[in-house]
Amino acid sequence: MYEHVNDQESPLHIPSNSVSSASDEVIKRVAQLRVEINRANTLYYIENAPEIDDAEWDARMQELLALEATYPELQTPDSPTQRIGSAPASGFKEVIHRLPMLSLGNVFDEAGLRDWYQRTLDFLEIDHAPMVCELKIDGLAIAITYKNGVLDRAATRGDGVRGEDVTANVRTIRSVPLKLNGDVPSELELRGEVFLPNSKFASLNLEREQAGLPAYVNPRNSASGSLRQLDSTETAKRPLDMYFYSLGYVENTIEPTSHREALSAIKEWGGRVNEWTRKAETVKEVMIAIANASAIRDTLDYGIDGVVIKINSLILQKRLGFVGRDPRWAVAFKFPAEQAETTLRTIHINVGRTGALTPWAKLEPVMVGGVTVGRATLHNKDEITRKDLREGDRVIVQRAGDVIPQIVGISSKNKRSSASVPYQFPHACPSCQAITIQTEDEAVTRCVNGACMAQFERLLEHYASRGAMDIEGLGERISQDLPRLGFVSNIADLYRLRDRRNDLIKIDKMGEIRVANLLQAIESSRSQSLPRLLFALGISGIGSESAEWIAHRFGSLTAVTKATREELLAIDGIGPIVASTLVEYCALEQNQKLITDLIELGINPLDQTPKPADDHPANGMLFVITGRLEMMSRAEAQDQIKERGGKVTSSVTKKTDYLVTGAEPGSKLDKAKRIGIHILDEDQFSELINKGIVPANPKT
Ligand code: IVH
Repeated sequence: MYEHVNDQESPLHIPSNSVSSASDEVIKRVAQLRVEINRANTLYYIENAPEIDDAEWDARMQELLALEATYPELQTPDSPTQRIGSAPASGFKEVIHRLPMLSLGNVFDEAGLRDWYQRTLDFLEIDHAPMVCELKIDGLAIAITYKNGVLDRAATRGDGVRGEDVTANVRTIRSVPLKLNGDVPSELELRGEVFLPNSKFASLNLEREQAGLPAYVNPRNSASGSLRQLDSTETAKRPLDMYFYSLGYVENTIEPTSHREALSAIKEWGGRVNEWTRKAETVKEVMIAIANASAIRDTLDYGIDGVVIKINSLILQKRLGFVGRDPRWAVAFKFPAEQAETTLRTIHINVGRTGALTPWAKLEPVMVGGVTVGRATLHNKDEITRKDLREGDRVIVQRAGDVIPQIVGISSKNKRSSASVPYQFPHACPSCQAITIQTEDEAVTRCVNGACMAQFERLLEHYASRGAMDIEGLGERISQDLPRLGFVSNIADLYRLRDRRNDLIKIDKMGEIRVANLLQAIESSRSQSLPRLLFALGISGIGSESAEWIAHRFGSLTAVTKATREELLAIDGIGPIVASTLVEYCALEQNQKLITDLIELGINPLDQTPKPADDHPANGMLFVITGRLEMMSRAEAQDQIKERGGKVTSSVTKKTDYLVTGAEPGSKLDKAKRIGIHILDEDQFSELINKGIVPANPKT
């Protein structure tokens, strides 16, 4: 925002050959300017009541910059000039949080909230605990460490344990004090949420568009993008803002005993705390606070996605601790999915890799839950009929979290023009014009033409995707160009492209470098594992997990093609539909040819998963996990089981050997009890996995 002032232009210029040594007068002036600028900043950014105008502020800042340039010994890290940003850093340093930065469990209604509160009381064996409600600001969490009151380091949450050092960037946020006031603990960490005000979001996007940069989808992403700029002068241009909501690590001092006291202390030190907080003694009072927050939501200049409810006593908070990544002492009450009204412009059909015809709607762009939505999925033909959706209708669009936006229904039939007609779902594939079918047991309409170009384009895209063969550069566009321009008509052709380098370069927007990278990525994909290759082939129903089971059982591509239905069914987790689909896939001549071609081209990975010790009692056993584990994550538990030769599936059936139960197990536990499955609590599970001890089955 401010460029360094050239010494020559500065009225305070002192010849650079003179050894600068600031006079008392200069030292005094620098101090005075800092006080004035800091005061102006506080009035402007924190109290919203400016006393001096921009030009006066500017003049003081320029003067201070000039003085600091002339007398570098007077520069301090907490000077207001330090908010202007510094030259690009090479990347972000890693920061290990002294106390982990947790996330929050969610509840969506009063019943969920009551459960949380009751669990909390039960844990403490008390019958009442005062709470505090706060707005849940939709930005990103930052931890700022102050040493002797001076901003020392700012870090992102990262994975909760390790974050990124974004100190230079956070310094540019005007509402973040560079220096705290009063009696401050020698080391103090403050935590809070950085966000971009809604009112600044539109103008930021406009600027980006004018500069030819992609627009940000919502204020939250733009805040995160802005804070993670390597060049903090870029961050300085973004009008980021921050609210503090808690203390982190605090060095040797008498800590406040309640959350509300902590917030007051932060405020006294000069930190900005959101004004909206509510005390609550009961769940009913919390519900009233939530209704109030929801009512003022649209009037706020920042996005909120719920209310955070915290147990007020810090002593109780300490006793409560956390489960997994969530504290027991706080919970987020999430607002329901946001809805908005807009016009359904046109209905389109997308042909998927397995031939499924999925309709989607192009919408008049509209903001829903802080995001601009221009498309919505329509799921399938029946959904359109059921809701009687027509082009030109006014519709209600809804989005929940990261879910693809959906059309809830039409807002009013009266608004329809007399020319409106019901939508006719196409009888033919919009890509290859082949006739489509809809089987009775499926809601999906399919194109069953094995040579359909659209299907093949989607297959290529899937084959190249991250979880499959991971071929960078083979995205949506190239997956269309290659077949359309006749370069590939099956997967094996990808590995023949290296002989056509010169022709590839001629493809629009390709060029030598892109072609070289693409060919390199294709070559590297030769060494992908058998499970990935099996998944990449895009056989209907074979996901990355079932591909793994099949690969482990058969060990090679050739062996898989010879698998019988019975052999496949014997694999735990593989059901009759997948078994039949795979056998049918392998029986088709074109697929047999594809596999022989791949093997001939050298794409023939063998499964090299180390064989687990046969004598471990978990070997060959089928596990289901339910509820929240406390000692490890679910992914870790799954890995541990797999390493010992066991398998994990998601639903309890008669085939299940063990149900592992964590906190709040849910309906799987009831079912397991009903059909007599061996149930393990987390300790028993750990004994089984780590020591090979099989706990006695309480049922037998
Ligand atoms: S307290 C133990 N208070 O929500 C977790 N978090 O979903 C401490 N957030 O990562 C969080 N407003 O970034 C707290 N008033 C508030 C908040 C808030 C927004 C964010 C925070 C956290 C996320 C958890």
